[in-house]
Amino acid sequence: MEAKQLIDPNKIKQDFSIFKRKINGKPLVYLDNGATSLTPDIVVNAINNYYHNFNANIHRGVHTMGEDATIAYESAHDKVAKFINADNKEIIFTSGTTASLNILVRSIRLNPGDVIILTEMEHHSNIVPWLEAAKKEGYIIKYVKITENGELDMNHLKSLLLNSHVGVVSVTHMSNVLGSINNVKEIAKLAHEKGALCIVDGAQSVPHIPIDVKDIDCDFFCFSGHKMAGPTGIGVLYGKKELLNDMEPANFGGDMISEVHFDHATWNDLPWKFEAGTPNIAGGIGLGAAVEYLDSIGMDKIRDYEEFLTEYALTKLKGIEGVTIYGSSKKRGGVISFNVKDIHPHDVGTILDRDGIAIRGGHMCAMPLIKTVLKLNSVCRISLYFYNTTEDIDKLVTAIHKAKEVFCNDQS
Ligand code: ALA
Repeated sequence: MEAKQLIDPNKIKQDFSIFKRKINGKPLVYLDNGATSLTPDIVVNAINNYYHNFNANIHRGVHTMGEDATIAYESAHDKVAKFINADNKEIIFTSGTTASLNILVRSIRLNPGDVIILTEMEHHSNIVPWLEAAKKEGYIIKYVKITENGELDMNHLKSLLLNSHVGVVSVTHMSNVLGSINNVKEIAKLAHEKGALCIVDGAQSVPHIPIDVKDIDCDFFCFSGHKMAGPTGIGVLYGKKELLNDMEPANFGGDMISEVHFDHATWNDLPWKFEAGTPNIAGGIGLGAAVEYLDSIGMDKIRDYEEFLTEYALTKLKGIEGVTIYGSSKKRGGVISFNVKDIHPHDVGTILDRDGIAIRGGHMCAMPLIKTVLKLNSVCRISLYFYNTTEDIDKLVTAIHKAKEVFCNDQS
């Protein structure tokens, strides 16, 4: 079999001016991509271009700049639609995955007593909106258990689906703690067999693996721009056209209307019906530039390279005495959570930062998983992207040894 031609991350780093920055006098080693990825110059330039050349509102003025802004913003929807194989009417821009999920929780019509199936590996954004809705609407929330190695227990999911009142199955595509990639195509199929809707939280998957929402056949898919080389404050809610058409908007105001009278209003066409008020125009244009940039590298190539780098990082981390890694799913991405002996993750993070290495420490916005399932207080997490190198991982390993020296007086 021919060896895969992997991308050259050192060449890619040149697309990001931020890598010129020194952190505590050291070159930046950025391993916190699960929280926010870095933004290539091409995306920053697209945002600047909007503010420098056509800084106007969309869908309103008939003037040239208004037209330019409208064309650029609408074309960003087209680019994102193509990126995940959707129709452009099915792409709603939001402020991020959290906003997308909140819109769904408010807009999907369910009945009191309906069961919402989530999983034990969800981010707070796919738990808290449902908890709040359950208090008001009387929904019953069930959580799919995870196995020892951090995969979803599909048998448990099937047993929960035996309940005849399941309205929604809402799952993360890739865990932001364990890195496990869930079989969302199979989950959507199982949900549909029981007449339930399937929502996928793709915040951690879209930046890293090729996505085809038609192939997955989920009903809704949510993700954020800032984890995929795009700006902050912009995200996406994908929904099947026929479902979005039937749903009521969650937010009301300008642009989402067709007609307004003193006693009633009617709604605009998709996707604008769900985008009330002046949207994040610059952010949307930036996200369009980000997906074009990712496409120019190739999502298959990004996935291949990250598989290689994840394996490399796992092997190196496993070689450090006192490091415990959480999650060993067979199908996984480059999110790796771990602890170093008895050192608090914030202390590990602080020592690493001295060497210019950025990681995340804490509960990862997944407290039920960290505290109740893994029985921990917090973890250290590295999350890789296509511009990370094996040298970055080697520096991480050296810095973890330093942290052990500082806190454990142990040079093993
Ligand atoms: N959800 C982001 C993370 O996992 C912020 O770090």
